[in-house]
Amino acid sequence: MIIRKNIGIDLGTHTTQIYLEKKGIVINEPSIVAFNNRTNKIVAHGTEAKKMLSRTPAHITALRPVVNGIIADFDMAKEMIERFLKSEKFPRSFITRSIVSVPTNLTEVERKSVEDLLKEAGASSVYLIEQPLAAAFGSQLDINYPTAYLIVDIGAGTSDMAIISMNGIVVSKRLKIAGDYLDQEIIRAVREELKLHIGEPTAEDIKIGVGSAVPLGERLEITVRGRDMLNGLPREITIKDTQVRFWLSRPLKVLVEALKDLIEIAPPELVGDVYKNGIYLCGGGSLLRGIGLLFEKEVGVKVWTVEEPLTSIARGTGIIAENFDRFSHVVNNFSRFKLGGTL
Ligand SMILES: Nc1ncnc2c1ncn2[C@@H]1O[C@H](COP(=O)(O)OP(=O)(O)OP(=O)(O)O)[C@@H](O)[C@H]1O
Ligand SMILES: [Mg+2]
Repeated sequence: MIIRKNIGIDLGTHTTQIYLEKKGIVINEPSIVAFNNRTNKIVAHGTEAKKMLSRTPAHITALRPVVNGIIADFDMAKEMIERFLKSEKFPRSFITRSIVSVPTNLTEVERKSVEDLLKEAGASSVYLIEQPLAAAFGSQLDINYPTAYLIVDIGAGTSDMAIISMNGIVVSKRLKIAGDYLDQEIIRAVREELKLHIGEPTAEDIKIGVGSAVPLGERLEITVRGRDMLNGLPREITIKDTQVRFWLSRPLKVLVEALKDLIEIAPPELVGDVYKNGIYLCGGGSLLRGIGLLFEKEVGVKVWTVEEPLTSIARGTGIIAENFDRFSHVVNNFSRFKLGGTL
């Protein structure tokens, strides 16, 4: 017997989340595959593959098939999704209508690639929704009304900012300055200032452990290990919150400027609404200490972080999956006005 079920997917640079109708988020795993480059076969995906990242023997490669929110390796991304959909979480032989979240301002070719991927992975039909809009659904904002909300999704690969009104995106902007970029800034600063090579997982530990956007009430420190650039030997260092705040200040300033640009091009009525309703942050990057306070200070508008910011987009696609007939008008409906430039 074939079972019909709708699913919602957030195919992120860092994490893939799949929402199954009547069940909730059943997959929440790293967007990583590990494959054997002698046979070209995938040997692990998701959480298992993450454990192999940067610790693999020469013939095993672990890679991220989604880069900056966009499918970078179609075959690997397809197989990763197929493998997720084959897990015991999903009923056997089921047909699915998939609601997939995508970054704002994708080209038609990039959107088509997401559609093809899901169809080849077994979906009967595929509908796309831009991530800030999905986040607004997931956060239960009243976006059905003629009032505007500004949503900022700071993920791993991209930061997407959009002003939303009446179930649609009015203006939006996408930047590649997001979580991964902050990690790279930490790697560069530790190399240049402290003469130590560290890897991406260590940089992320530093960011999450002691990173902040504004001065904190407490002092934080983290001890990490890396390879000394001068003698090539392992070395341990302690890093303070003040250092990391300085390293992150330049990319965070770029985000602030982008936010100001977006507000500048928005129709005045909507700007008034944003002032009244505030700015809503989601995505893993919104968990950086003090990022809301920084935006609030620089932009002069109240900032809220949505509840459970790591899953708001997947939950948004899930709400549409559960009530597809009611919300079918919000999918495949792309931003009318785009602000280019920073990409
Ligand atoms: N407490 C934290 N402080 C700072 N950054 C964090 C924190 N927790 C997670 N992150 C960062 O959030 C990012 C992951 O967020 P998220 O899961 O929203 O990304 P994604 O959806 O996979 O990426 P994208 O939307 O860009 O495709 C990572 O860069 C991670 O380091
Ligand atoms: Mg995301």
